[in-house]
Amino acid sequence: MKIKNPLDMHLHLRDEAMLKLVAPFSAKDFRAGVIMPNLIPPLTNLEQLRAYKERITSLCENANFTPLMTLFFKDYEAKFLELARAEIFAIKLYPAGITTNSANGVANFDLKNLASTLNAMSELEIPLLVHGETNDFVMDREAKFAPIYEALAQNFPRLKIVMEHITTKTLCDLLEKYENLYATITLHHLLLTLDDVVGGKMQPHLFCKPIAKRYEDKQALCKLAFSGYEKAMFGSDSAPHSKNDKECCGCAAGIFSAPVALSVLAELFSKHSNEANLQKFISDNACAIHKLEFSKEKIITLKEEKWQVPQNYGEVVPFMAGSELKFKVSAT
Ligand code: NCD
Ligand code: ZN
Repeated sequence: MKIKNPLDMHLHLRDEAMLKLVAPFSAKDFRAGVIMPNLIPPLTNLEQLRAYKERITSLCENANFTPLMTLFFKDYEAKFLELARAEIFAIKLYPAGITTNSANGVANFDLKNLASTLNAMSELEIPLLVHGETNDFVMDREAKFAPIYEALAQNFPRLKIVMEHITTKTLCDLLEKYENLYATITLHHLLLTLDDVVGGKMQPHLFCKPIAKRYEDKQALCKLAFSGYEKAMFGSDSAPHSKNDKECCGCAAGIFSAPVALSVLAELFSKHSNEANLQKFISDNACAIHKLEFSKEKIITLKEEKWQVPQNYGEVVPFMAGSELKFKVSAT
């Protein structure tokens, strides 16, 4: 199986030692990644953003990997955004306190407060990426955010809005209702329901935000991904935390899937779909939606060859640790 220019449209690379550990996995397998800005402190200015981009690229030098940078959403002046436009791919909005390192996110979704930044973004064609969850009951958080997505889509019709890591049928259905709504889907949400996380012994390495939902939600996500549906893009949400931060009282949310993402997707699509739809899900849809072009191509070959996922990469436990996978990335 061959894939051209695989893209990870939602990726956490962290910083410092963790960045050094995890960046090579994404750089090896993907042509580009949309890099999340939830560092401490969050990325909100161009000096920080340039320095972070430099730290990433210096680790991926021979890999033909482009980090597509994002800023952390806050009230930005139009002048600043005009300057930033050439250096950023998008702006990522987090509700305050909803997930890892989101304390500085948006606390009030009264659109009047957000309008000046969102209007400037519309004008400058800067996409808005949204972590859509409210503070409601944990299984309902994403669906309860749907009215906010609707209000955003209606009030800012020229703004490209990406509903990140969708996990519910509710949001799958919303894609059909608004032209300017798009979505990313993770690998783990194509595989897991809440049962896998807490139905038996509690599995900290499957704990993430948004939490995996019901079987019918997973089915709705699979239907979009496996059909190559043009508004759905792959975004791994690969989000590494140290083993200590996962296997403790107060487990951090996040699943580290970068090292296995392509192998597992190849297996899933060979079983439930086909190579052409994988190509759409993992690259073509995102290229069409965001008008992305890459001068230097990256072709990834996936061979049918069994391998076992290691129990850990350094201090991080990967998604599906210990499992046997059927496809292996063989050459780039
Ligand atoms: C992410 C992280 O660890 O940064 N965690 C997660 O569970 N997905 C943040 C996020 O994308 O919500
Ligand atoms: Zn994320």
